[in-house]
Amino acid sequence: MDITFLLNGETVELEGVSPTATLLDWLREERHLRGTKEGCNEGDCGACTVMVSDADGAKALNSCILFLPQLHGKAIRTVEGVGEADGTLHPVQDAMIKHHGSQCGFCTPGFVMSMTAAHANGATDHDTQLAGNLCRCTGYAPIVRAAEACEDKPVPTWVNKDRSFLLPKISRGEDEVRGAEPPFAPTIADELATVYAQHPDATLIAGATDVGLWVTKQLRDLKSIIFLNRCNDLKTVEVTDTRVRFGAMVDMNTVGETLTDLHPSYAEMVRRYASVQVRHAATIGGNIANGSPIGDNPPALIALGATLHLRKEDTRRDVLLEDFFIDYGKQDRKPGEFVEAVSFPRQPDTLKCYKLSKRFDQDISAVCGCFNITIEDGTVTGARIAFGGMAGIPKRAAAVEAALIGQPWTATTITTAKAKFDADFTPLTDMRASAEYRLETARTLLERYFAESQGQTTNVLEVSA
Ligand SMILES: Cc1cc2nc3c(=O)[nH]c(=O)nc-3n(C[C@H](O)[C@H](O)[C@H](O)COP(=O)(O)OP(=O)(O)OC[C@H]3O[C@@H](n4cnc5c(N)ncnc54)[C@H](O)[C@@H]3O)c2cc1C
Ligand code: FES
Ligand code: FES
Repeated sequence: MDITFLLNGETVELEGVSPTATLLDWLREERHLRGTKEGCNEGDCGACTVMVSDADGAKALNSCILFLPQLHGKAIRTVEGVGEADGTLHPVQDAMIKHHGSQCGFCTPGFVMSMTAAHANGATDHDTQLAGNLCRCTGYAPIVRAAEACEDKPVPTWVNKDRSFLLPKISRGEDEVRGAEPPFAPTIADELATVYAQHPDATLIAGATDVGLWVTKQLRDLKSIIFLNRCNDLKTVEVTDTRVRFGAMVDMNTVGETLTDLHPSYAEMVRRYASVQVRHAATIGGNIANGSPIGDNPPALIALGATLHLRKEDTRRDVLLEDFFIDYGKQDRKPGEFVEAVSFPRQPDTLKCYKLSKRFDQDISAVCGCFNITIEDGTVTGARIAFGGMAGIPKRAAAVEAALIGQPWTATTITTAKAKFDADFTPLTDMRASAEYRLETARTLLERYFAESQGQTTNVLEVSA
């Protein structure tokens, strides 16, 4: 595959790149840019963070799970390229030194890159911006102080130059990869539909935050690949009076931003979905299509009554998201069929999403419970409750819902309904949680929803003495 990108201000053209070569390996092994570190090689530690700019702006991304073809036409900055040519440090580098933001230094380049991207975007929610970077020896306080110290410092001129980098052939639409052999990189959904129907065994790669690990950790050899990242028509967000619709390639940061006012509890859950770096890459379509029983979007979307829009060639069909998940590892998706979008009806916000994980930030859910309960004149008129982590698939709590609907919204009703969780779920014990913990937690979350509806504060982060 032939690709072109900008690296630290210099145009790089590569011919015949392996579609599963990671940016991290290429930087370190081919370009000898070893400031970008390898820690976990699975998106968890942030040591490999780089800044990638395109027409959408500047993003911090983990280079260990970023395949080279995903970078075609974009501008990449590594820690070697953030200072000025005359040796002047980037304000973030300067602040890290002055505020003692580094001890052993292994994590430092990754922090500098996350902070550089945040600085370029004017982001000051430093805890969130740095949640994807692990430091084991300095401690976070000096690093956050360094980030605060450069909030008002001017953004270097190269940031805008990187953003405006757009290969002429890309803007002219002349770079479409239309060869007869994979890897394919279609630029619109129509082309994807054709190519996937011809190669139904191909692996679709959206953000690669799951597929990347198949390569770096499971050492899988992906023979036939279709990259989706150039299909801009799958990246659209539609909010109308009647529905909210996300194209399959909408990334999780955009999902969170879109839902901030519509369904704040869902947006808050997204803030705890992996890290900024992973959310920039991870797509909502990938999170549904992977069929994981612990993906965070499906329970929230099922509670909102979402519909999945599937497409094979020119044939489109809609399935209720809750019916898409058939069994562990089995979804209602035909060979050559892909997720085009997901949508749910506009509705008054009664949704609460509770993500429980061992770590607050950057952790997969042990249990994710989403409750959407409507109460009119003190009586429950509607209940959609869905869980991740409680079964082999994301699943509705049908017996609990039935015990609520038509009943008065009282503590007595909650007590009766709580007993029905045993009928809905037989969870497993695994490294994230025991079966008993999961069941007990699910019951308690219903109680929490009720307590919140009575005006009580239940979030430990909001409790004050
Ligand atoms: C460090 C880390 C933390 C994470 N934390 C969380 C978390 O907190 N919560 C959570 O839910 N997930 C988490 N994940 C998992 C992952 O980020 C999500 O599942 C992500 O949304 C997958 O999207 P993607 O675009 O990266 O998919 P990819 O990796 O590109 O693809 C995933 C699967 O979906 C298929 N696919 C992709 N797009 C389509 C499509 N349009 N149609 C049909 N099939 C398609 C692919 O072929 C593949 O089988 C985490 C991952 C990492 C690495
Ligand atoms: S090496 Fe840990 S996130 Fe990439
Ligand atoms: S400075 Fe040592 S791990 Fe961060």
